[in-house]
Amino acid sequence: MKALVYHGPGKKSWDEKPKPTIAKATDAVVKMYKTTICGTDLHILKGDVPEVTDGRILGHEGVGVIEEVGTAVTNFKKGDRVLISCISSCGKCEYCKKGMYSHCEKGGWILGHLIDGTQAEYARIPFADNSLYHIPENVDEEAIVMLSDILPTGFECGVLNGQIKPGDTVAIVGAGPIGLAVLLTAQFYTPSAIIMIDLDDNRLQATKTFGATHTINSQQEDPVTKVFSLTQNKGVDVAIEAVGIPATFELCESIIAPGGHIANIGVHGKSVALHLETLWSKNITITTRLVDTVTTPMLLKTVSSKKIDPTKLITHRFALQNIMQAYDTFQNAARDKTLKVILTNEG
Ligand SMILES: NC(=O)c1ccc[n+]([C@@H]2O[C@H](COP(=O)([O-])OP(=O)(O)OC[C@H]3O[C@@H](n4cnc5c(N)ncnc54)[C@H](O)[C@@H]3O)[C@@H](O)[C@H]2O)c1
Ligand SMILES: [Zn+2]
Ligand SMILES: [Zn+2]
Repeated sequence: MKALVYHGPGKKSWDEKPKPTIAKATDAVVKMYKTTICGTDLHILKGDVPEVTDGRILGHEGVGVIEEVGTAVTNFKKGDRVLISCISSCGKCEYCKKGMYSHCEKGGWILGHLIDGTQAEYARIPFADNSLYHIPENVDEEAIVMLSDILPTGFECGVLNGQIKPGDTVAIVGAGPIGLAVLLTAQFYTPSAIIMIDLDDNRLQATKTFGATHTINSQQEDPVTKVFSLTQNKGVDVAIEAVGIPATFELCESIIAPGGHIANIGVHGKSVALHLETLWSKNITITTRLVDTVTTPMLLKTVSSKKIDPTKLITHRFALQNIMQAYDTFQNAARDKTLKVILTNEG
């Protein structure tokens, strides 16, 4: 089969690889139908995730059809259409029992990281019973691809941890796919204002059609002054960090109202200053989280019933064999106005 293979920092190619087989009784092999590229794949290619080694097939998102299941798999059979979660979970360990699938003692984020992933014609999925979901009839499969990672990430790490309530004022720093997933799912809770902050005018423009009430280009105006002017000088009830750099987390610290919640989503490579000299008395909460994908069944219902439409996030489509071109488009998001790309296995 063909697959997108990582060969060390800056190097990847579309290679011939052996088709995966069942290695453990709890595995399934899925024939990939649609997959996508994540910002995290770009982090890997930059060399930011050193545990990914030469020869690894990338990708942790997608939908497909079950090709084969191990003898212990009971929920799925050959021919079933499935959504693949970016998090593999045994469902039995201490963390899985708490719903913290991201910290599963035998799984977690391993696909396209510690084991071969989904940017391939076939993928082996461990703990299939707990890591795959049946795709309902009559639901757009491209919408379902957005449920592998970005929607649960935005919802769990941003909206749930930020405890958004009706009438709240919310700022989302970063209007990439993750920030937009927060924007879509924040609206379940009818906040009174959702302020999007980014540097890219194209992305900010797009957020208006997704339900943002205000946008701030933080390169063109001071975001702190603007947020205070939009919130009667209080700051926001919920500030969600969806970039992953010190400046954007510190911005959240500067705009949070008393009693507010700062929910971090970004993957940080550097330490960030925590301004307790101003925050100690403000009754705020700061949360961090690796996506658990424990809300996937609930989000699947909201997508199936069209309460949210994640296909709005898809800007480009390619055949799977043209994945090198898709990476170029995804890597040049500002040039090509890219949000999410969809790759279809036409074979
Ligand atoms: N916690 C988790 O489980 C989890 C899961 C998936 C992704 N992530 C992380 O979430 C973050 C966002 O992911 P993404 O795919 O949307 O990334 P992305 O790179 O596509 O988007 C980031 C956005 O931030 C904007 N930005 C950059 N610098 C800025 C600044 N100084 N001020 C304001 N905006 C700025 C960019 O213009 C871009 O639109 C990344 O750090 C990613 O690694 C975390
Ligand atoms: Zn991802
Ligand atoms: Zn587990």
